Amino acid sequence: MCGIVGYIGDKDALPILIEGLKNLEYRGYDSSGVGLIPDGSRSVVIRKEQGKIRNLEALLSKKSSIKSHLGIAHTRWATHGAPCRKNSHPHASENGSIAVVHNGIIENYQILKAKLIGKGYHFSSDTDTEVIVHLISEYFEGDLTKAVQRAIKDLEGAFAIGVLSSDDPTTLVAARVGSPLIVGVGEGENFIASDVPAILRHTRRVIYLKDGEMVTLRKDGVSVMTFDGRSVVPKIDRVTFQMDAAQKQGYPHFMLKEIHEQPDVLEKMLALRLKKGRVELEGIRLSDKELKKLNRIKIVACGTAYHAGLVGRYVIEELARVPVEVDVSSEFRYRSPIVDKRTLLIAVSQSGETADTLAAVREAKKRGARILSICNVIGSSLARESDGVLYTHAGPEIGVASTKAYTAQLMMFYLLALKLAQVHVALPSKNFQKIMKDLKDIPALARHILKAHRDIARAAKKHSHFGCFLYLGRNINYPSALEGALKLKEISYIPAEGYAAGEMKHGPIALIDEYRAVVCIAPQSEVYEKMVSNMQEILSRKGKVIAIATEGDENIRTHATEVISIPRTNKILTPLLVALPLQFLAYHIAVNRGCDVDQPRNLAKSVTVE
Ligand code: AGP
Repeated sequence: MCGIVGYIGDKDALPILIEGLKNLEYRGYDSSGVGLIPDGSRSVVIRKEQGKIRNLEALLSKKSSIKSHLGIAHTRWATHGAPCRKNSHPHASENGSIAVVHNGIIENYQILKAKLIGKGYHFSSDTDTEVIVHLISEYFEGDLTKAVQRAIKDLEGAFAIGVLSSDDPTTLVAARVGSPLIVGVGEGENFIASDVPAILRHTRRVIYLKDGEMVTLRKDGVSVMTFDGRSVVPKIDRVTFQMDAAQKQGYPHFMLKEIHEQPDVLEKMLALRLKKGRVELEGIRLSDKELKKLNRIKIVACGTAYHAGLVGRYVIEELARVPVEVDVSSEFRYRSPIVDKRTLLIAVSQSGETADTLAAVREAKKRGARILSICNVIGSSLARESDGVLYTHAGPEIGVASTKAYTAQLMMFYLLALKLAQVHVALPSKNFQKIMKDLKDIPALARHILKAHRDIARAAKKHSHFGCFLYLGRNINYPSALEGALKLKEISYIPAEGYAAGEMKHGPIALIDEYRAVVCIAPQSEVYEKMVSNMQEILSRKGKVIAIATEGDENIRTHATEVISIPRTNKILTPLLVALPLQFLAYHIAVNRGCDVDQPRNLAKSVTVE
C-alpha cells in the first residue's frame, strides 16, 4: 500500500526522500511523487510520475535541481482513481502553498468534496485525498498544526498523512488513524515514514504514532499530541535490526533471500522459546490457569497468514484437543461470530497492519474475547491492540510473497499447541518430548532442502509454460496446497488453485488434460495411499504430476512426472518442510516467465485498507 516519507532538517531533502521511497518499494505502488519547499520559496514544488520510482528520478533529472530542507514524498497504490500522474501524490492546494501525502481511505470524501465545490474549490484529481488538502487550506490561518487539527475533525476513515506549507515553512505535520506512521528522531533533523526501512540509514530512534495522534516536526524537535491538541509524552523506541536485513545481500530477489533465511529464523525461534524441556511463550500474557479456562479458539488472518492459521487448527486440535475455528478476517466480522470471555482470538499477521485483521480483532474485543496476536512487525497496530503478542522475529520481510513469515507463523503455532497441550495435559509426556525433539531437527532439514534448490529450479523450468496449475494436499497439508497455489498465482500470474485432494472428484478433475500440471503433496503419512490414488487418476487423464514426497520414496516415481523430495520428519511437522519446495517452485516459474517477483502487479505488501 502507499508509502510516505517526510524530512525536515539541515540536509538536502530530495535525495533522502527518494532513498526513503526506494526502501518502501516493497509495499507495492503504481506511481510516486515528491513535494518540496525550496529555500525562500512561496510555494511547494511538486514532481510526480506514473510507474516506478526510476520514472520519477528521470523526470527530476530533466528539471533544474531543487535545493530544499523540507519535503514529503509518496508511493501510491491506487484506490480512488486510475494510477496516473494527476492522481499521484502529493496533492496541492489551489494556490500551491500546501501539499499533502496520504495513505488510507477517506470514507466521507464525496460529501466533503461536494461541500468544498460549493465553496468554490476546484478538484484536479479523482482521489479521495484531494479533499484533505482543500480542507487544510480552508482552515489555514498561519499555523499549519491548527489547520490540520481542524481538517482532521471532518475526516472519516483511515489515514496517515504528511503535510507541509510554504506559509509555515519550519514545520512538517503528520497524523494517523488506522494507517501506519512512524516518526524518526534525529540530530538536527526529523523524519516521518510509513515504515522503519525508509529512515533507518539516518536514525534508529523511532516513535510509533498511535491512532488518534498527530505530530509537529521541526528540525530540532518533535511535539506529539492528540487530535484535540493534548500534548503526549512520546515513547522513543530503538530499532535493533540492521539495514542489511532489509537489503538483498547479493541475492537477485528479496524473495529468494527470504526463502534462504528460513532455517535460521526457525532455529532462532526454537532457541528463544524452548527451554529446559518446556515451551516458554514470552509475550502471551495469559497465565496457565487462564489458558486452561479457554473453551474455544478462533483464528483470523488473511492470505498466507490465513493458511498458517489453517495448519494451526490441525495442530492445536490434534495436540491440545481444544476446538479451533479459522476465518478469513474479512468474513469474520460480518458473520456474527460466536465469541465470549472464554474465547481466545488469535490474529495472525506478518505486518500487523492488515486492515481486515485489525477490524476482526476489534469486533472480537467488543464481544469480550481475549486477543493474542502472532505478528512479525514489532510495535505494529495489531501488536498494540492485542492483549498478548507472540513475535515471530523473522526480521523484515520485503518480498510481497510471504515466505519466511509463513514458516515462522507455522512454527509459532506448533509451539503454542505444545504449550496448550502442556496446560490441558492433553499429550502423553513421551509424545510431547518426541515432537519437541523433531521440531528441533527442522532447521537442519530445511537447510538440506535449500541444498537441493537447483533440482527444484530444473523442475520449475520444465513446467513454466503451463497455463494452469492445481495443488492437491490432504489433512495437514491441505493448507500447504492452498499456500502453494497462492504463491504461484501471486508472483507468476498463472491461474492456480489449491484443493483438498479428496475434493478432486467433486469438480476439479474436469480440468485435467495434458496441459495441466498438478502439484501433489504426498509425504509419508496415513493419507499417502490416498494421495497416490489421486496421482494415478491425474496421470491416466494425461495430466502432469509434480509430487512432493519423502526422500527415499521410490514408489512415488511410478505415479509422478516429476518428484521433489523433502527429508523424512514427523508427519505433523511436514508443512514446515513442504513450504520450501512450494516457494522455490513458484519463484523459479515466475523468474522464468520474466515476472517482477518482489513487486508483483496489483499487490501490496501490507493491505491497510479494507
Ligand atoms: C502473501 O504472499 C500475500 N502477499 C498476502 O496474502 C499476505 O499474506 C496477506 O495480505 C496478509 O498479510 P499480513 O500477514 O501482513 O496480515
